Amino acid sequence: LASTDVDLAPIAAGQAITVMWRGKPIFVRSRTPQEIEAARAAPLSELKDPATDQSRIQRDPWLIVIGICTHLGCVPLGQKPTDPRGDYGGWFCPCHGSHYDTSGRIRKGPAPLNLAVPPYAFTSDTKIRIG
Ligand code: FES
Repeated sequence: LASTDVDLAPIAAGQAITVMWRGKPIFVRSRTPQEIEAARAAPLSELKDPATDQSRIQRDPWLIVIGICTHLGCVPLGQKPTDPRGDYGGWFCPCHGSHYDTSGRIRKGPAPLNLAVPPYAFTSDTKIRIG
């Protein structure tokens, strides 16, 4: 499928779902106010792949990223509340230990780049279309 429609309404604050788009896992996370604040408080000077949180999202509280580690392509953990989320509360890639923050930015470990943001658009207040 060239595009994937996602209904955001059932996703509660702090929860995340994974949908497939062009054979790739896409992480859709409804961030808590604390997670958003943590993402915005990170100084750009501390980031390996500097990008503001605002440049990576379209509407709060939604973060939408491609769930493929930018090191060697494993799928990071952190979608379930019981998963390890790494030192920065986002995702943790168990393959070689990359830690991503609540904006999906690489903060520690061998991955060179942030989790990529796929093309998407809001088609209503509670729906997005990826691709
Ligand atoms: Fe994720 Fe190596 S593939 S850290």
